[in-house]
Amino acid sequence: MTNVLITGITGFAGSHLAEWILRNKPGIHVYGTYRPRSRMENITSIRNEIHLVVCELKDSHSVNEMIRTVRPDYIFHLAAQSFVPTSWNAPAETLLVNQLGQVNLFEAVLKYDLNCTIQIACSSEEYGHVYPHEVPIKEENPLRPLSPYAVSKMAQDFLGYQYFKSYGLKVIRTRTFNHTGPRRGEVFVTSNFAKQIAEIEKGHKKPILYVGNLQAKRDFTDVRDVVRAYWLAVEKGVPGEVYNIASGSAYSIEEMLNKLLLLTPVRIQIQQDPSRMRPSDVEILLGDYDKFHRQTGWKPEIPFEHTLQDLLDYWRGRV
Ligand code: GDD
Repeated sequence: MTNVLITGITGFAGSHLAEWILRNKPGIHVYGTYRPRSRMENITSIRNEIHLVVCELKDSHSVNEMIRTVRPDYIFHLAAQSFVPTSWNAPAETLLVNQLGQVNLFEAVLKYDLNCTIQIACSSEEYGHVYPHEVPIKEENPLRPLSPYAVSKMAQDFLGYQYFKSYGLKVIRTRTFNHTGPRRGEVFVTSNFAKQIAEIEKGHKKPILYVGNLQAKRDFTDVRDVVRAYWLAVEKGVPGEVYNIASGSAYSIEEMLNKLLLLTPVRIQIQQDPSRMRPSDVEILLGDYDKFHRQTGWKPEIPFEHTLQDLLDYWRGRV
């Protein structure tokens, strides 16, 4: 009997990962943590096939009790404060949630002497300021974080390394570049723009789409490809290692917006909203996923246009 634990199962990547495991790995028991205030809509369709365990990751007693009950063979640690702008408004809380949650998880695994494999969701944001000659970015690239969020993810990343070295914990770190698809939270750029388009199509909003910095470049992968990568990471990854998960292509946010606009018949005016600009923005993230490909055979399969179509259709069904 294999038990899998997903922290953040009610979230975007967590819900897709749970679905992927249920569909592709029959017989595995899927557990997931939630908090009383968690929104359950992402897991409605699989609610009866998973085991939910209430847990506050910031509280070591709660984490200990959860780990003692579940006794996982694999842990996917996805729960986090994951929106970069929130980390400027609430830097202390971002650092606390992301670092303390992970330390509590590691300490609980040590306390109950579990021999489990733990995937840590680190981030391409850790690379931060990247020079033009450094793309596509490899894992050895210097980390030059540009937000409290990026610093919190660096801490998670290095804690993973340290617990591997100090205690032999089987930690595999994935630095995932931007990912999107149905259920993406509406604050993130692809989802935000798709939702605005859906609202304009329905006549709920004037045909003006508000944007922030359109010049930044990002490497987008479909969330369904990303969760397949997470499974391969624990199945075939080497403990102690770090792997980029990326598509290997980058688009400016403006190019991404233009792709979305091709999917709607409505004419839309674009307007910059100064409140959407950041104190410092990462200019370019373009990942090299060769190390992960060589280790696991993974490569992204879903074309970006397909992902954007699914995302827009998701919002069309909801607004
Ligand atoms: N959110 C948002 N809203 N971003 C905008 C907007 C807007 O209206 N207009 C332009 N942008 C730009 C941002 O300035 C940024 O350069 C880019 O679009 C992407 O923003 P987000 O979708 O918020 O993602 P992110 O790149 O900051 O972070 C995401 O990717 C990381 C991996 O690199 C998040 O998913 C992180 O959790 C993840 O670690």
